[in-house]
Amino acid sequence: MVFTEKATLNKYISQQRDNKQSVGLVPTMGALHDGHLSLIQQSTKQNELTVVSVFVNPTQFDNPNDLVKYPRTLDDDVKLIKSLKKHVIVYAPAPNDVYEDSVSSQNFDFDGLENEMEGEFRTGHFDGVGTVVKRLLEIVKPDYAYFGEKDFQQLQIVRKLVKKHKISVEIVGCPISREDSGLAMSSRNKRLTEEEKQKSAFIYKTLQQAKAKFGTESANTVVEWVTKQFERHSFLTLEYFKIAEVLTLKSVKRKTKNKKYRAFIAVYANDVRLIDNLALN
Ligand code: PAJ
Repeated sequence: MVFTEKATLNKYISQQRDNKQSVGLVPTMGALHDGHLSLIQQSTKQNELTVVSVFVNPTQFDNPNDLVKYPRTLDDDVKLIKSLKKHVIVYAPAPNDVYEDSVSSQNFDFDGLENEMEGEFRTGHFDGVGTVVKRLLEIVKPDYAYFGEKDFQQLQIVRKLVKKHKISVEIVGCPISREDSGLAMSSRNKRLTEEEKQKSAFIYKTLQQAKAKFGTESANTVVEWVTKQFERHSFLTLEYFKIAEVLTLKSVKRKTKNKKYRAFIAVYANDVRLIDNLALN
């Protein structure tokens, strides 16, 4: 079932709720792949009803070209969801249904999480994400909402959003799904040829090597080493590589025993921007 308007969606959800069903929300921008499906499957295990939102959110794109080129494959997405044969409905609204009067972002304070990495390189991105996720949570009012560790910074920001705005929902983080080559699945991979995808598997290989090095070497040395690997690469261009503590997302200076760290990376493959990350301990 596909809903394009929140009014009819809400009616359907409240009917289901009358039967005491729990509701899971999986927010997406469509062009669904196995990464998205793993989130949807996680939700169908925990909830009687799953709502998948398919909405290419204009306010989180700082680059108009990226927004125009973002793949839109709603018919295929719906087919894929139907093939799961689970109680999953789709909310695929037009911008006005989500935003009402003006398609613009609210300003958020995520305690500085919004200024690191993706926030530094994509101005206003997390105001856009915060705005749309808050709206979707208000519209659907799910018991659980599912987000991938593929966008780890986004996941931490959504957790902060829910806490700060006292939204009653449990946020569930889900592991990264990868191609056999190790390349993290992404809707943007659709814009790469097979050969380019194989070349892009270098990103994950380098993350794994960085993880091994981080065992014995300082964060700075690892950052320098990764930077060099990409300088030598003819196809991929590094935008950033960073080793950060998972709660603050600040660069690690000195390793502390009981803290958790992750390596984060953004790379251009032609004009396609790819991100990935890996837990280091
Ligand atoms: P989108 O890029 O479509 O991703 C939707 C959800 O799928 C996100 O939580 C993302 O982290 C997760 N995901 C994507 N690729 C994944 C992979 N390879 N493994 C595991 N999870 C993966 O992220 C967004 O959309 C938007 O910012 C959104 C939250 C919908 C707000 O507009």
